Amino acid sequence: MLTDELRAEVARLKAERDAVVLAHYYVPPEVQELADHVGDSFALARQAATLPNRTLVFAGVRFMAESAKLLSPDKVVLMPDPASDCPMAHMVRRETVDAARATYGDDLAVACYVNSTAEVKSWSDVCVTSSNAVKIVRELPQRNVLFIPDRHLGSYVASQVPEKNVILNDGYCPIHRDISADEVAQLKAEHPGAPVLAHPECGPEAMALADFAGSTSQIIEAAAAGEATDYIILTVDGVRGELERRCAGSGKRFHFPATRPVCPDMERITADKLVACLRDGTGEVGLPPVEVADAARRTLTRMLELGAR
Ligand code: 13P
Ligand code: SF4
Repeated sequence: MLTDELRAEVARLKAERDAVVLAHYYVPPEVQELADHVGDSFALARQAATLPNRTLVFAGVRFMAESAKLLSPDKVVLMPDPASDCPMAHMVRRETVDAARATYGDDLAVACYVNSTAEVKSWSDVCVTSSNAVKIVRELPQRNVLFIPDRHLGSYVASQVPEKNVILNDGYCPIHRDISADEVAQLKAEHPGAPVLAHPECGPEAMALADFAGSTSQIIEAAAAGEATDYIILTVDGVRGELERRCAGSGKRFHFPATRPVCPDMERITADKLVACLRDGTGEVGLPPVEVADAARRTLTRMLELGAR
């Protein structure tokens, strides 16, 4: 529960540092409440590139803060907990990229999910998020696309863009992968006719039961626009607050898998850590070596150019 004192302290510290707080939908509800902007990865990357404030505080995992720093290198980017990292961001090896480039030459594009380190981005041609991956891959001039690191988002993209040869890598999000088809089937039995809205990081068995696939924002928008009363939501539980806010008064109900999907790295970010980071200026995110930063920034900039929803 946030106290008035804590809210006032955050407002005072933000003004002092000319800071703005960006939060992903997966962080705890009290951190979302303290944020100036809450969104999915794409919306937050766009804001990070354009906000006028001197300091960006990123309540999310490291790749998000790192992308903000790459897009706004002159700004101070702070993380409330610098240890919050997405395990999938590291799940690809340079050899996989080199082998695909050797096989397909100029007719290969390397599409990199934004859930990746700056180094992984620097090996790639374009970045994507879950909200624009299909659109961007479809528009690439090359026929062969190596999709890294996420196998599941890559498979979903392949299913939507059959004209491309999408080559998959073995990365995954442990939280979405563990949403079991049995639990989804159980929810469907309990709520007959409820649309299943899934994040495409889910595994193929759960995705086969979905009626809609999209990023966290797209899931929230689909539920807000839908005509049903009950919705089965296959993503991290953190989206619940925004779903309930957006649909307040509509009588809509949201059902999540019984094994509550929670991202432990997003959960590391607490209101107290946010205050400490604003007060002390801790958790500053640096830039990688210049050649890595320049190449990684190119992939993000290309995404922002191609990725308008
Ligand atoms: P989106 O923000 O694109 O929905 O991605 C979810 C995610 O897993 C972020 O780590
Ligand atoms: Fe990474 Fe999955 Fe957590 Fe998103 S939900 S940050 S993909 S571990």
